[in-house]
Amino acid sequence: MNLVARLAEIVGTNHCLTDPDLRASYETDWTRRWSGPALAVVRPGSTDEVAAVLRACADAGVGVVPQGGNTGLVGGSVPRDGEVVLSLRRLDAIEEVDAGAGEMTAGAGVTLAAAQSAARAAGWEVGVDFGARDTATIGGMVATNAGGVNVLRHGAMRRQVGGFEAVLADGTVLRRLPGMPKDNTGYDIGGLLAGSEGTLAVVSRVGLRLVPRLARRAVGVIGVDAAADAVAAAGRLRRELGSLLALELFTDDGLELVMRHASAAPPFDRRPMYLLIEAGSDEADPTDDLAAALNEIGAGEAAVVASDPTGRDRLWQLRERHTEAMNAEGVPHKLDVSVPLTRYAELVERAPEAVRAVDPAARTIVYGHIADGNLHVNVLGPPPDDERVDDAVFGLVLELGGSVSAEHGIGVAKVDWLIRDRGEAAVSAMGAIKRAWDPAGILNPGVIFRNAA
Ligand code: FAD
Ligand code: MLT
Ligand code: ZN
Repeated sequence: MNLVARLAEIVGTNHCLTDPDLRASYETDWTRRWSGPALAVVRPGSTDEVAAVLRACADAGVGVVPQGGNTGLVGGSVPRDGEVVLSLRRLDAIEEVDAGAGEMTAGAGVTLAAAQSAARAAGWEVGVDFGARDTATIGGMVATNAGGVNVLRHGAMRRQVGGFEAVLADGTVLRRLPGMPKDNTGYDIGGLLAGSEGTLAVVSRVGLRLVPRLARRAVGVIGVDAAADAVAAAGRLRRELGSLLALELFTDDGLELVMRHASAAPPFDRRPMYLLIEAGSDEADPTDDLAAALNEIGAGEAAVVASDPTGRDRLWQLRERHTEAMNAEGVPHKLDVSVPLTRYAELVERAPEAVRAVDPAARTIVYGHIADGNLHVNVLGPPPDDERVDDAVFGLVLELGGSVSAEHGIGVAKVDWLIRDRGEAAVSAMGAIKRAWDPAGILNPGVIFRNAA
């Protein structure tokens, strides 16, 4: 029996897609920068089916690309050259929310928004949040070690993983569920899966550690004149505003795009840059504290604060809708980097110059999670396969002592830069883990490593 027939037998004909029209949305990434043909898209409905699919692909020596919501931004979720796409979206059951322990067991295909609703109904919250919440899945978030807007308070996805179930390339199932807050029994496999980008195992279920729900919120936006002012204000807010939950940077160029594509309005007279600040508390309304903190840092007239849900959402849209506004302008080069906070202002100033030096016609828009030293450098203009601007920005980042991937991962976009960032010894240690877990190189070939097997 050929591989496609065997896969159809495992998941059912309706869930083994070979028609090019049905495969299409699984074959191109969110930015449209990466795409490739899949042999088939398979959509298993259980962990046993995931294991059987992996065994069949291993027997046939065909690569497998795990895929959740396909919102990843480094090309790791789409096929390159005739692999099988293993879509985990049907594993979408929230099996248990333990309101006492603050833990939720969720299938890999549960969306972040669904997990948030279930957590909130139990008086808890998911520690990670970001704009793709309606589509990104818990499995994909673990696989990418997703960051988002609350990392300064709760850490990235790795910190939210309490337990896991995952399937190795040969179909072996590893399970530690629901997971315990203290568990020092050997290697931290859940931690290793976080950020493995589908190269070590397929995550099928996750024991999510929840965080206390801070239901009382206030959001502020202030204008600043330069990146150095934004960094100084961010430093003070981190020290002085105990209820700080999110601290984001965007620029007037980005706001212009959001206004054009998302019909947003500026909150006050335009300024070169903006900080969005969110404060949260479970008891007292944080609005006064936030307003006082903004006053202390001298925000003056260029400041607005909202505590009602509509007003807060309107301010958040100014920042969150940058990603789609960018996509509406063209196919962006998305360079997600971080530097020590002491070099952040320099990066904000120099990244557009570095891009201009190699492509004077390119447009650079930056925004990001300033408290984490994380800047998203988005470049519009160069064709998808032109890597000169990527190289210019990554080179600058390494010169400033930073990381070429703050939160989106390596995918296929940054494979050549991984070794320059982490060095040969670290990448060779990572390769040894990859070969031990997946000796035939079945799982996500070409992601993180060029030649893993
Ligand atoms: P996919 O895109 O399907 O896959 C991503 C990677 O994980 C691929 O390598 C894939 O092979 C692997 N994978 C997926 N599911 C599994 C699984 N079950 N087991 C093993 N491997 C798997 N990211 C951030 O970190 N912070 C942000 O603030 C942020 N904001 C975003 C905003 C928008 C509008 C968009 C479009 C994206 C944003 N992202 C952000 C990127 C993206 O949403 C995250 O990387 C997210 O975690 C990907 O989840 P997904 O389910 O879509 O995974
Ligand atoms: C964000 O912070 O908005 C996301 O990481 C997505 C992006 O980089 O556009
Ligand atoms: Zn981000």
